[in-house]
Amino acid sequence: MTLDEGDTPLVQAPHVSELTGADVWLKLEGANPTGSFKDRGMTVAVSAAVSEAAEAVVCASTGNTAASAAAYAARAGLRGAVIVPEGKIATGKLAQALMHGARVVALRGSFDEALALVRELARRHRIALVNSVNDFRIEGQKTGAFEVCDQLGDPPDVLCVPVGNAGNVTAWWRGFQEYDTAPRLHGYQAAGAAPLVRGAPVEAPETVASAIRIGNPARWEDAMNAFTASRGEVRTVSDAEILDAYTLLGAREGVFCEPASAAAVAGLLKYGAEGRVVCVLTGHGLKDPQTAMNRASSVLPCEPDLDSVEAAVLG
Ligand code: F0G
Repeated sequence: MTLDEGDTPLVQAPHVSELTGADVWLKLEGANPTGSFKDRGMTVAVSAAVSEAAEAVVCASTGNTAASAAAYAARAGLRGAVIVPEGKIATGKLAQALMHGARVVALRGSFDEALALVRELARRHRIALVNSVNDFRIEGQKTGAFEVCDQLGDPPDVLCVPVGNAGNVTAWWRGFQEYDTAPRLHGYQAAGAAPLVRGAPVEAPETVASAIRIGNPARWEDAMNAFTASRGEVRTVSDAEILDAYTLLGAREGVFCEPASAAAVAGLLKYGAEGRVVCVLTGHGLKDPQTAMNRASSVLPCEPDLDSVEAAVLG
């Protein structure tokens, strides 16, 4: 089951490079078929679900996993069900899951509660659980690491990633290890949803970056092992810092990513790094039009005559 995922652009970030003194590159995972890195793992997980003759695929999600699972399930002719925290996922992601015909369940609870429930559900039925607790997901997502090394010609010195459920950082580390290399992994959590930094689960996580609003990551130990083994770090960025990086990427680098993705760059700007640095921009900005519109300047109303247009364009 494939939508030809992966092979995403790796572009230089001249402005962020100038600000940090590092050689900064952006891995545009929003260029995947459903607009996020999740497709790399979902192609493998849904293919496995088909080979295991699963009746359906299910996941808990802050939105992107739901959109990706729904797309690959649709392609496989499998029933898809996605459990999302009610009112807490970005509009684009919801539209995707619905358009792909998944059953979208709005849970009156958090992502962490949703994940605990689907794990139990998958134990009781012939349903494939396609969250990143599923190892096929990690196997697919690790290909990001292969690609970055191939695209650069050498491994980067540092990889900056946003961290939510911690599957992605686990996958990147596995990929680098299989390529016999060990860049420092710099993980960033939103300050209001930073269990790995605090060293304890967060009961009521809160952040503008809804994709990483997670209080009890499933891949906790794997992620901490990756940070330690790579001599990396996991730190927090505030919502204001995330939104500043989000705006800067759009306005200065020409790259529109979602707020969670901007956490990688926010962390780099805040804490710095040396050498060749790759920031993983995990999802496309169009996923979350509401945050963009809240943040952006307003449109200019204009009368349909040349003077008015001149004033509007050049004034
Ligand atoms: N960035 C984006 C855009 C995400 O959607 C996610 C996770 C992450 C970063 C963090 O990755 O969880 O592997 O540490 N989204 C999941 C979802 C939780 O349900 O779509 P992680």
